[in-house]
Amino acid sequence: WAIYAPYVIEINRLKKERNAVILAHNYMTPEIYHGIADFVGDSLQLAIKATEVEEEVIVQCGVHFMAETSKILNPSKTVLMPDMAAGCSLAESITAEGVAEMRAKYPGAPVVSYVNTTAEVKAASDICCTSANAVQIVDAMEADTVIMAPDQYLAQNVANLSKKKVVYWPGSCIVHELYTAEDLRAYRELQPETKIIAHPECTPAVVAEADFTGSTSGIIKWVEDNRPQEVMLVTECSMASNIADELPDVNFAKPCNMCPYMKKITLEKVLYALHTMEGAVEVEAEVAEKARLAVERMIDLSR
Ligand code: 13P
Ligand code: SF4
Repeated sequence: WAIYAPYVIEINRLKKERNAVILAHNYMTPEIYHGIADFVGDSLQLAIKATEVEEEVIVQCGVHFMAETSKILNPSKTVLMPDMAAGCSLAESITAEGVAEMRAKYPGAPVVSYVNTTAEVKAASDICCTSANAVQIVDAMEADTVIMAPDQYLAQNVANLSKKKVVYWPGSCIVHELYTAEDLRAYRELQPETKIIAHPECTPAVVAEADFTGSTSGIIKWVEDNRPQEVMLVTECSMASNIADELPDVNFAKPCNMCPYMKKITLEKVLYALHTMEGAVEVEAEVAEKARLAVERMIDLSR
């Protein structure tokens, strides 16, 4: 912590000077999560929080689609992205043209797009979803067939829990697709008491091996509530690092996989953004208006 302290102190000072608030995703590193964030959460919680921010500036410690979502939901705020290259393999896997292709293939089917998408894709969708509410949103659609984009594994996991026929775009998360059911079974044989908790961006075979599946905040809550002796978080590495200190009785089994996009956000870059006020995210008004409808519909259905 000694090497982080000067950054943490200066960022927290500048935050007040700039009338800024830091919204951080659960995958941020511990020095961001514990040192400078005003609010931490999963994608749904971050989106809802963005609607409530009164400060003039939001610094989004997360990936680009999260900053866009904040800007869409609270357009009068300056939303700073500490590194514009912090993308997401899912958001990069589909464009608005891809959504149009899916609509042409499945006429009349509503499009439920994951929030891990660009503003243009959200604008071309009927409603958004996150990992926390995907089944609820798909089930709320009137049609029998629902298009989900762009995460094929989230879509398959939702289909296993929903009465709807789910068709999907073939995107995937480069972090969660690396886990295999074989690896988890092998680990379980060695350590039968270990609880395995997976994010729904993992393959259905991995989810089938898990004791619990949920959003990043759902995972944290499960571990806090259940306090297993040993747990394997089948998700991004910082999740375990962020909660390990508060749960000294829980052993966090490795391995984990790192998200190279999330890890682009560092204290140095947050400090630079607050100092220079560079890196403001803009969304074209017409796109933002349509995208806002899709995100707000999701938030309304999730309350
Ligand atoms: P959550 O909405 O569960 O936080 O997931 C976001 C994400 O990018 C997971 O890879
Ligand atoms: Fe995207 Fe996967 Fe990284 Fe989440 S973990 S931001 S879904 S690449």
